Amino acid sequence: MRLTTLLPLLSISLPITGTAAKPSAPPSRLWATHYNGNVYTLTLDKTTNNLSITDTQKTCGKMPSWLTFDTESQIVYCSDEDGTADPSTHGSLTAYHPDREGKLHQLSSVKTVGGGVDSVIYEAGKEKLIAIAHYTASQEFHFKLTHPGAVAQQDSPHPHSVFLDPTGSFIVSPDLGADLLRIYSISSTTGKLTTCPPVNVTFGSGPRHGLFWTDGTDNNRTANGDNGVSHQREMAAVGKTMMYLANEIGGTVMVFDVSYARSGCLDLQRTQTLVPYPASGQKDHKLPTGATPAEIRLIGDKFYVSVRSDQGFAPSDSMVTLDRSAKSGAVKVSGKSDAWGKVPRTFAVNRAGDLVAIGNQASANVAIVRRDRVSGELGEKVAVLQVGEPGKVGQAEGLSSVIWEE
Ligand SMILES: *[C@@H]1O[C@H](CO)[C@@H](O)[C@H](O)[C@H]1NC(C)=O
Ligand SMILES: *[C@@H]1O[C@H](CO)[C@@H](O)[C@H](O)[C@H]1NC(C)=O
Ligand SMILES: *[C@@H]1O[C@H](CO)[C@@H](O)[C@H](O)[C@H]1NC(C)=O
Repeated sequence: MRLTTLLPLLSISLPITGTAAKPSAPPSRLWATHYNGNVYTLTLDKTTNNLSITDTQKTCGKMPSWLTFDTESQIVYCSDEDGTADPSTHGSLTAYHPDREGKLHQLSSVKTVGGGVDSVIYEAGKEKLIAIAHYTASQEFHFKLTHPGAVAQQDSPHPHSVFLDPTGSFIVSPDLGADLLRIYSISSTTGKLTTCPPVNVTFGSGPRHGLFWTDGTDNNRTANGDNGVSHQREMAAVGKTMMYLANEIGGTVMVFDVSYARSGCLDLQRTQTLVPYPASGQKDHKLPTGATPAEIRLIGDKFYVSVRSDQGFAPSDSMVTLDRSAKSGAVKVSGKSDAWGKVPRTFAVNRAGDLVAIGNQASANVAIVRRDRVSGELGEKVAVLQVGEPGKVGQAEGLSSVIWEE
């Protein structure tokens, strides 16, 4: 008993007296957005596993939805999803500089069209640009839906996310509403986007998020005789590139072989469709009713897919791990683990690869779990913290995103 009360004193006096105190690891910081209009700074004390809210700000519009951190310039970008219901309203994009305590200081804010969600930073010449997927509209391109989709969500185009190919020459935007992958080639000098032919995804799939895998030789595709339009690049057929896509409505993960076509666009050939969930033993293997994949990430040869509303660890949902075959690039289900909350809309792995922060939307909590850096398996719960008020499942309420400050 006495020892525990002494501990705080010791931890203060040791550095002052200059004895050989073991330096405690600096805390880790995270940022989280909530549809209540707040952006939070979270601090994880890695010695005590105390996760706490150390700053709360009413910022980033009415519906802060997504954060992108450019570590190089130390700028955090926050998209505001406002304007979803009423196209005459605006969303916004706000930039911040974090101080040493992770508190965000606003640099600038611009109005965008409504429904801004995921964003990606890309480079052209000496400039950095940001492309934002707008769930209800589109900043530069007016998507025309020619083929109404399978469910109500698909009554209009819904670009849900944006991500870069490994060469930094293309942006892919899964359009949940149109069952399409929108592809844009980036001018390496002006950053201007040119529309490539979209790629069809099976009707009713509702593609949401995706990522590329590369054997690392992609960066060798250097611009050659580039006059600023990437489709005029000479792209050597080196290396292997694959793309992995999480489909929200169809409840599948799709695997594609990627090639850099002579036309200057991407050619995607589907090689596999998988249900990202441990088999139940039933013939018609699919996700539990009402469950949908949200986020997908890859570390080494392990994929992580957050699955919303499967109630795999009732009252919590699941994180599913998939193994990637180094030989073929095919995926298979490895297992599932506890998301420690409801509706894991987003999650982020820290740079060291030993912690995963799960942003549970409906329960509005951030759960941090251990990740084994060798096996890739997700393990014990490190901390769980309530961040803002819970939201209703299926509504734009609750915690919208979480990222690490790294
Ligand atoms: C956790 O950290 C916060 C912020 O530093 C502090 O206010 C709180 O007292 C800590 N909680 C515990 C249980 O140590
Ligand atoms: C994509 O789907 C549309 C509508 O079903 C169809 O007209 C078009 O031919 C398809 N394109 C490809 C490349 O399969
Ligand atoms: C990159 O291209 C150069 C010249 O063609 C070649 O020598 C080198 O091996 C390539 N590097 C990789 C990683 O493929």
